[in-house]
Amino acid sequence: MNYSEKVMDHFVNPRNVGEILDADGIGEVGNPKCGDIMKIYLKIDKNIITDVKFKTFGCGAAVATSSMATELIKNKSIEEALKITNRAVLEALDGLPPVKVHCSVLAEQAIKAAIWDYYTRKNINPEIIMGKFDNTSCSCEDNNNSCSCESNLI
Ligand code: FES
Repeated sequence: MNYSEKVMDHFVNPRNVGEILDADGIGEVGNPKCGDIMKIYLKIDKNIITDVKFKTFGCGAAVATSSMATELIKNKSIEEALKITNRAVLEALDGLPPVKVHCSVLAEQAIKAAIWDYYTRKNINPEIIMGKFDNTSCSCEDNNNSCSCESNLI
């Protein structure tokens, strides 16, 4: 399987691995296609994501995409972070082999779940801001008719 140099770099030397003990939002999702798990911790100050860490029981592609996703949302506003799709992460990594694209959905979904948790902790209804968190929706583009890369909140 061919991985880009950027994927290999983020896999071998992942950024933002770990956890934030006093996180303002935590998101944990599982990938039903492979059973892998992703957890993302956010520190948020005045609507800005000032720190982000992740932990995963996932494959190398999940590590690389999470590493890149955390870099993309660091020091960004919540609104900007919510716009990050797995596709944007894939582009930033110069792509993944089609069979591994489902792995990139974990990071996107975990970020959304963490922001959902942040709003919930603040007694704000996340649905008003984020809409329905449809964790069965798929932004993966490697599928034709049947999507198999949904993530579910666990
Ligand atoms: Fe499960 Fe990649 S095979 S996240």
